[in-house]
Amino acid sequence: SLVSLRQLLDHAAEHGYGIPAFNVNNMEQVKAIMEAAAATDSPVILQASAGARKYAGEAFLRHLILAATEAYPQIPVCMHQDHGTSPSINVRAIQSGFSSVMMDGSLKEDGKTPSDWDYNVRVTRQVVDIAHACGVSVEGELGCLGSLETGTAGEEDGVGAVGKLDHSQLLTDPNEAADFVKQTQVDALAIAIGTSHGAYKFTRPPTGDVLAISRVKEIHARIPNTHLVMHGSSSVPQDWLKIINDNGGDLGETYGVPVEEIVEAIKHGVRKVNIDTDLRMASTGAIRKFFNDEPKKFDPRDYFKLTIKSMSGICQARYEAFGAAGKA
Ligand code: G3H
Ligand code: 13P
Ligand code: ZN
Repeated sequence: SLVSLRQLLDHAAEHGYGIPAFNVNNMEQVKAIMEAAAATDSPVILQASAGARKYAGEAFLRHLILAATEAYPQIPVCMHQDHGTSPSINVRAIQSGFSSVMMDGSLKEDGKTPSDWDYNVRVTRQVVDIAHACGVSVEGELGCLGSLETGTAGEEDGVGAVGKLDHSQLLTDPNEAADFVKQTQVDALAIAIGTSHGAYKFTRPPTGDVLAISRVKEIHARIPNTHLVMHGSSSVPQDWLKIINDNGGDLGETYGVPVEEIVEAIKHGVRKVNIDTDLRMASTGAIRKFFNDEPKKFDPRDYFKLTIKSMSGICQARYEAFGAAGKA
């Protein structure tokens, strides 16, 4: 059944676990996530970016997610708008039937220019007022995602600030977080701790200076009753990176957020963990390998089936590691 983000995260906080929020654009991703959730009895957050809605079209996306609730009636599913960059995008999502939205006011409407405090509070509060009247949850964001190594959002696929960011923008301030939650009344808060979107997060396995789990602890100590959200939380699996490159791909050396660091953050208030890149890598790796191994085959179901299996393996591992397994 369709549930709000608030319902899922309140339960997660009460029982001390985290829920992976996977991005979806197509049927294979939805199926992979639902199969993993059913196998592990986990609650589900399916999130769609504005780009996903553009790719699949609003009706296909909505029905794909509703199909998941119909095929798996025992699993609670939150249908979440990821990175709504304006109140109107979020209102549109609410009209479409989403049970949760993200008003990302950390950036201006273009999704590229860092905004200021007053703008962020104003648009977020506006969306909260509308969403709560409809029983829909709201995630806000304070701070800009980006690399503490380079001072840039490092984003190749369009979601993230353009230009140089300084430390005060890249690390969410605990006192400001408290003030922001109080003024906006968001249900969940995305924070900046040095992660960024996409595959190129860290040039070496991350240490505390570039992945500030300590900052999660400081924010949680200040606002213990607020559900925290980690974006850019793909782990960039080295085995899938190798499969991609061994089969004609050309990805550079790169590292993601280690699962054990996410598990540590979950002990300190992180309840929603956004993952997109890992599933992109698993499906690309599976397809590249299939094309290399099976040059005579051409039924798309043969390789899409493999992408479902490869993505599902990652989903299952995250449900188990984050403690969501058995909590549906
Ligand atoms: O927020 C970033 C997600 O990975 C969505 O990316 O805008 O390419 O769908 P997208
Ligand atoms: P990744 O690129 O690390 O998978 O992050 C996804 C995300 O934060 C979507 O909002
Ligand atoms: Zn994100």
